Amino acid sequence: MTYKRTLVTSALPYANGPVHIGHLAGVYIPADIYVRYLRMKGEPVLFVGGSDEHGVPVTIRARKEGITTQEVVDRYHRLISDSFREFGISFDVYSRTTSKVHHQFASDFFRRLYDNGKFTKLTTEQFYDEETQEFLTDRNIRGECPHCHSAGAYGDQCEKCGRTLSPDELINPYNAVNGNPLTKKATSHWYLPLDQYQQWLEKWILEDHKEWRPNVYGQCKSWLDGGLRPRAVTRDLDWGIPVPVEGAEGKVLYVWFDAPIGYISNTKELCDREPDKYGKWETWWKDQDTRLIHFIGKDNIVFHCIVFPCMLKAEGSYILPDNVPANEFLNLEGDKISTSRNWAVWLNEYLQDFPGKQDVLRYVLTANAPETKDNDFTWADFQARNNNELVAIYGNFVNRAIVLTQKYFGGKVPAAGELTGLEQSTIAEIKTAVEEMKRLLDNFRFRDAQKEAMNIARAGNKYLADTEPWKTAKTDMQRTAVILNTALQIAANLEIAFRPFLPFSSARLRNMLNIEELDITRLGCFTLLEDGHQLGEAALLFDKIEDSAIQQQLDRLERIKQENAAREKEEELKNWHPAEVKADTSIDDFARTDIRVATVLDCQPVRKSDRLLEFRLDDGMGGRTILSGIAQSYPDPSVLIGKQVLYIANFPPRKMMGKESQGMILSAVDADGRLVVTTVSRQVRPGAQVG
Ligand code: MF3
Ligand code: ZN
Repeated sequence: MTYKRTLVTSALPYANGPVHIGHLAGVYIPADIYVRYLRMKGEPVLFVGGSDEHGVPVTIRARKEGITTQEVVDRYHRLISDSFREFGISFDVYSRTTSKVHHQFASDFFRRLYDNGKFTKLTTEQFYDEETQEFLTDRNIRGECPHCHSAGAYGDQCEKCGRTLSPDELINPYNAVNGNPLTKKATSHWYLPLDQYQQWLEKWILEDHKEWRPNVYGQCKSWLDGGLRPRAVTRDLDWGIPVPVEGAEGKVLYVWFDAPIGYISNTKELCDREPDKYGKWETWWKDQDTRLIHFIGKDNIVFHCIVFPCMLKAEGSYILPDNVPANEFLNLEGDKISTSRNWAVWLNEYLQDFPGKQDVLRYVLTANAPETKDNDFTWADFQARNNNELVAIYGNFVNRAIVLTQKYFGGKVPAAGELTGLEQSTIAEIKTAVEEMKRLLDNFRFRDAQKEAMNIARAGNKYLADTEPWKTAKTDMQRTAVILNTALQIAANLEIAFRPFLPFSSARLRNMLNIEELDITRLGCFTLLEDGHQLGEAALLFDKIEDSAIQQQLDRLERIKQENAAREKEEELKNWHPAEVKADTSIDDFARTDIRVATVLDCQPVRKSDRLLEFRLDDGMGGRTILSGIAQSYPDPSVLIGKQVLYIANFPPRKMMGKESQGMILSAVDADGRLVVTTVSRQVRPGAQVG
């Protein structure tokens, strides 16, 4: 161990909504497991969290809900910190970036860099709303995605196809709040010249931190390979920390500048409040013997591995992160989790539906932790892992060990006697699992570490199946004593092994075993419970989750899916603009196109094509057949029979799906993409020309 203490931070969640399973799986559970593990080892550790209360997301939520931004952050800060507490996320401090301490601290931090000439000032053209007289941030600009062409993509990202965007790329950008079209206007901002840190970063990350997770290292490398550019650290916005420079009225610190400083100011808040317990904040942030670990999701990598380290480096007196074990994303039933689309399992709602089942979710999210790739949360898997693993393996084993002891030994730990090969091999197996688990925890591999903990329970179950104490009890109480003693020692080991992962269950297990917390150094020992120790009451550690509870969750998601589809359609229609008028043409060009009227005699879908309709037309000239790709818009093509349509009569015939088409029927494309056949306002003779 080359460090004296560990400072663990977990990304400050935006206080613009409740936290969901993606947050928990990606950031807070792994951080909490790690911190609990270090504490169990007796290592000094500080676990810092807090709410990120600035930035555009909270202001958008405020406008949506018709309340003030302060009300939004108050509401969600409370909700989020309650959820974390309920799920056992064991922060030493959970504060917020609207706190006085933070405002002062972040403001001073900026000013220090400013005074030392660490910023460059640049004037650029930014999107501006003339009516409301405000500059728009990326998130407040929406428009058509240049890649997938879905409507309503944000200026920083398209939520449909997931691509990162800049507002300049959007087609027909508009103000997300009021729909106003936007103009460009000059404005000045302070930039952190990341390009000047490029070389230093290349050495610090690419050479000195080869041990970082491949996903983290790879992302850093691709940013560095692309060449870093200066980044603005201020914004034109009225919500945030005012830029502490004269003449900077109406400007605030960029949320990604102030939020990571929140890690420091929250540490300061805690240490100033309880100096005896936590010491000086500087010790945690400036002493080379402190190891700093950031737990984050993958969308935060650039800020924690590149931008924040540059800020710290520019300041000059801080330590840098030692590791940044970032996770990939957790999807929900195959779709990207999204706060704005309500596609999530919210922690507060989960607890209403599954009261007392915090550990079940902790278990499932760790078992599916997106450590190396995106992963999927499904309710079917949630149920299966609860019923087949927690209930059938862990819970069942512990229950049998205790109930049998009550039955045969009055609930007192029977004396261990001579061990047979069965005990010895089981003990060896468990010792291996324990060592492996610790190694994995030390390397931030929580998913595999938890598997090892479950392997201990598996070994216990197998041991009971092999030794069958309910049978030996009929003939050999001495042997039965050995078996149940061993089984109970395994149960006690499970209390320790699962404690970082499932703290609530370990507490319940301690009650059942009637013990205090056992020391992690004794993990793997088989003398954890003394002979004659009186056990507590047996209870079920976990219970089965029924199909109906799962179905309820699936029904809820289905409802949300439908609501989203309806809303997105509406939005698409609302933001529809006619296509631009084409370049000039001439009457001569037009005259070469022979447009005519025909009466539809018959209209049928073309077999084996989901696109084509076959029209039989009375064209006044003996009849013709035209194929038209509008089947999707006319589920019942018979509605067109008897209608008069406009078509181009002088296209050369062309074969489609083995049939000949003699011309093209003219259709309008409606805002929702549906094709509508054109017609005349009263009956004319088939064959009439249009011009
Ligand atoms: N609020 C950000 C997010 O949810 C994370 C901020 S992390 C911090 O993506 F470092 F800035 F605090
Ligand atoms: Zn897109």
